[in-house]
Amino acid sequence: MCYKVRVKILFVSSEIVPFASSGGLGDVCAALPKALSRKGINIIKIMPLYGCIDREKYFIEPTGIELNISFSNSTYLVKIYSQTYENITTYFIQSDVFFNRENLYVDEYGDYDDNFERFLLFQKAIVGLIDFLNLSIDIVHCNDWQSSLIPIFLKYGTQGKLRLCNEKTLLTIHNLAHQGVFDSKKFYLMQLPLSCFSDKILEFYGNINCFKGGIIEADAVNTVSPSYAKEILLEKYGNSLDGVLNNRSDNIYGILNGVDYERWSPNSDSYIDCNFSINDLSGKLKCKKELQSLLNLEHKENVPLISMVSRLTSQKGLDLLFESFDELMKKDIQIIFLGTGEQWYEDQIRDLEHRWPEKVVAKIEFSSSLAHKFFAGSDIFLMPSTFEPCGQSQIFSMRYGTIPIAYNTGGLSDTIIDYPRKGSTGFLFETFNTFSFLDKINYSLDVYNQKINWTKLIKRAMKCNFSVDQMALEYINLYKKIISN
Ligand code: GLC
Repeated sequence: MCYKVRVKILFVSSEIVPFASSGGLGDVCAALPKALSRKGINIIKIMPLYGCIDREKYFIEPTGIELNISFSNSTYLVKIYSQTYENITTYFIQSDVFFNRENLYVDEYGDYDDNFERFLLFQKAIVGLIDFLNLSIDIVHCNDWQSSLIPIFLKYGTQGKLRLCNEKTLLTIHNLAHQGVFDSKKFYLMQLPLSCFSDKILEFYGNINCFKGGIIEADAVNTVSPSYAKEILLEKYGNSLDGVLNNRSDNIYGILNGVDYERWSPNSDSYIDCNFSINDLSGKLKCKKELQSLLNLEHKENVPLISMVSRLTSQKGLDLLFESFDELMKKDIQIIFLGTGEQWYEDQIRDLEHRWPEKVVAKIEFSSSLAHKFFAGSDIFLMPSTFEPCGQSQIFSMRYGTIPIAYNTGGLSDTIIDYPRKGSTGFLFETFNTFSFLDKINYSLDVYNQKINWTKLIKRAMKCNFSVDQMALEYINLYKKIISN
């Protein structure tokens, strides 16, 4: 079906798969434009050309367009590159000074100390490119703080002169924990009227807060699940922006992310040892056996294999898991980890592996192939995130019949139905403490031993469908609403 909607969308993100990504943001920022384009939406993507992006592999070519971007008393040269795949053009902003680096945001010492300048250049260059090409765009769709200043630059201009703004803007919040907060001494680089540095726009406890400015100035704001859209209005989840968000509550929407099942389906997945489907689960058992062998774990068919595939950061509830670990290890289970992240968490997980070598395996690495094998071969998937705007791993795990245990928050609440409720697909614990967490794990282990109930649960989980099509339809409706307002 093709929807004839004449909206031209400029889709801006600091990460887009397959070019460069650090997590869920990059995946969604690839899947959504693709799904929108399939529905007939005319969409262009734009992102930075990081040094780590393989230009040859993706046929990324210079367009010949060069822009001089001013930061008050200095000027930087930006070159525009592009590539087109499946009818969607992606523009890339190249800068030797700011983007010719291996990583997206950090090096081994932490955040790059010029991240403000880097994404300031990125956003000024985008507005510069719109004007240079005289693009007629209906909506500029911004994602997270790295593009949240665009609504401001579209109105106030990038060079100290007001701009006639014909574009509408949507800002999607993927994670409110990262807001782009910087020293106010850098404000002059933005070349915005001083009035923009007021608490009504960019000022935040004496600093510049990029997300705050975007939330206030965008025509509409959305987050990536209906529950998280409500939660961020509360002090507990608002990360000090709940007041700002409440002022905009009439224009805050929640649209659940979809996932690309073309990449994540056990019946066609080429990474896993044996394909399987709802009608024939025998392959799942083979995947478990292979996974246990691969990780040098004893092959035990009836011992629950519990996995966690995650960025290793505090958001992901690792502290709660560590606190519960001694108790967990009293049970006849195996626990496996896959992911990288903050050094402290990586060390703690390695330590667990040393203490319980027969039951715990940690793969501190980023590997797509292992991720698929973990989802396919495990019985239970742990996702005790303290907050979760949407989350993807629980959705992947369910598709592979691996039952999630998660905290009842954000996108986890919107995607998992708690056992034994009607249509249940996983387990949700209600209170963020070790008692409630361990209690849910114990309950899940009881159900695991009731083979008929467990198989029914697996099949219901595998049937869940969080498709990109549904997500795209909801964004189209939101775009239409923004345009007509
Ligand atoms: C962020 C959020 C995650 C969400 C993803 C894509 O990584 O933490 O919950 O799924 O963005 O929107």
